[in-house]
Amino acid sequence: MPMTRIASAALRAKLTTAEAAAALIPSGATLGLSGFTGSGYPKAVPMALAARIEAAHAAGDPFKVRVWTGASTGPELDGALAKADGIEFRLPYNSDPIAREKINSGQMEYFDMHLSQVAPMAWQGFLGPLDIAVIEVSGIRADGALIPSSSIGNNKTWLDRADKVILEVNRWQNPLLEGMHDVYYGTALPPNRVPIPLLRPQDRIGEPYLRCDPAKIIAIVETEAPDRNLPYAAPDATAAAIAGHLIEFLRHEVARGRLPASLLPLQSGVGNITNAVLSGLLDAPFENLTSYTEVIQDGMIDLIDAGKLTFASATAFSVSPQAADKLNANMARYRDKMILRPQEISNHPELVRRLGCIAMNGLIEADIYGNVNSTHVMGSYIQNGIGGSGDFARNAYVSIFMTPSTAKKGTISAIVPQASHVDHITQDVQVIVTEQGLADLRGLSPKQRAKLIIANCAHPAYRPMLEDYFRRALAGSYGQQSPCLPCESLSWHQRFIETGTMQG
Ligand code: COA
Repeated sequence: MPMTRIASAALRAKLTTAEAAAALIPSGATLGLSGFTGSGYPKAVPMALAARIEAAHAAGDPFKVRVWTGASTGPELDGALAKADGIEFRLPYNSDPIAREKINSGQMEYFDMHLSQVAPMAWQGFLGPLDIAVIEVSGIRADGALIPSSSIGNNKTWLDRADKVILEVNRWQNPLLEGMHDVYYGTALPPNRVPIPLLRPQDRIGEPYLRCDPAKIIAIVETEAPDRNLPYAAPDATAAAIAGHLIEFLRHEVARGRLPASLLPLQSGVGNITNAVLSGLLDAPFENLTSYTEVIQDGMIDLIDAGKLTFASATAFSVSPQAADKLNANMARYRDKMILRPQEISNHPELVRRLGCIAMNGLIEADIYGNVNSTHVMGSYIQNGIGGSGDFARNAYVSIFMTPSTAKKGTISAIVPQASHVDHITQDVQVIVTEQGLADLRGLSPKQRAKLIIANCAHPAYRPMLEDYFRRALAGSYGQQSPCLPCESLSWHQRFIETGTMQG
């Protein structure tokens, strides 16, 4: 039997099986679960709960739970519970394909919200009561303090707000994670809020452990289970071109004196393209970079190895299996260069604005005026969710969005006359980059933006269609500020739905 990581004898007495812990969760319960982009989520109790739900359904009992997390999790949590038809309602960000299918087929309610706002909204009481927190930790100290695992997400809030707590202590997590976390307990509700005393990404303002009232702990389960670490795609020509345009832009900003030579703290969104940009920075002439972001990705670890990135602050790891192995094998070397914080701090608008983050996020589509849709395909089918993109985009020093200029083998243009859903309004979108080029939209009127986006970002197969639309909109619109032909502006999407392509 491997050594236990539960140093508190009183809490060791609460050790039980995943099945016994899951049996303590009643139908209709609201659960606050740990987990952020596939790291630090509970793995055994949700699986046991899913099995219990399936058995209940077979017996005619419509057992369901409400699920709150940090962000996306893994197949053992979202995947298993969604497959069992066990989730009545979920918040926030989801990227699990089975849960996505249940949401899009109307079988699951989904509240997609800014990640920085989950904890404050829970405290404000807007989300309703929280019955049980189910949290993965990497150990429990003799004094009962919890050693967080590979993500922190909303764990502090779930542990505080829940009536009861179930813990999973995961021996797979690296013991050297202890001390890497910074859990800030200074947030409050208005009118008692005070400035958050963080001035640089590397500042420690909290404590390395999560507090938890031991009286609330109803079960503890030991596991030895890996996080869901998925490989990143090797950057293809499109990703490399996007990275090239973006790095050229950053060089230009440094040359103009609008950015320091070490840039400003980088925020890098989820996805292969944003990771490719980080890889591109390996060969770029910037030194002493820092990162204040949501997730630590492979590209950041490579930048640390190359001596280019001096510090990364995030709420979770989001790495490939190879990078996870490297991290775990060399944690002693990396741990002084990284901090994991609660997501209300990693994504806090006050801090993003103060630090002047360079926000780099992916998008689904942008319209010619620079409104960005990050979430809904054809305006109604949810892909993932807004995640932290809004937290960073609105408050960044410069807010950059990037995408291939087409999707689905060229049948969809990522640049459209009108976005079918808007997550980021034009004022929050300062730069758009595709493999075709980059549009710096700062200081431009809507018509100036449209010309630049069409010329620099649209794919040649769609550029003449956009030019034609814009020319006719200029001639025939109700007004000349943001020319639009309402009956036609969403017709590209309708054409795709009807014919399988946006091409006319
Ligand atoms: N129409 C239809 N589908 C589209 C599309 C469009 N305009 N643009 C992208 N897609 C599809 C892709 O085809 C792909 O589908 P697949 O998985 O079936 O192949 C999927 O969306 C992902 O697109 P991809 O090109 O692989 O890009 P990505 O991995 O960089 O993801 C987002 C792009 C927008 C989905 C992703 O960045 C996201 O979820 N963003 C919102 C959250 C966010 O920004 N978080 C970061 C904050 S820290």
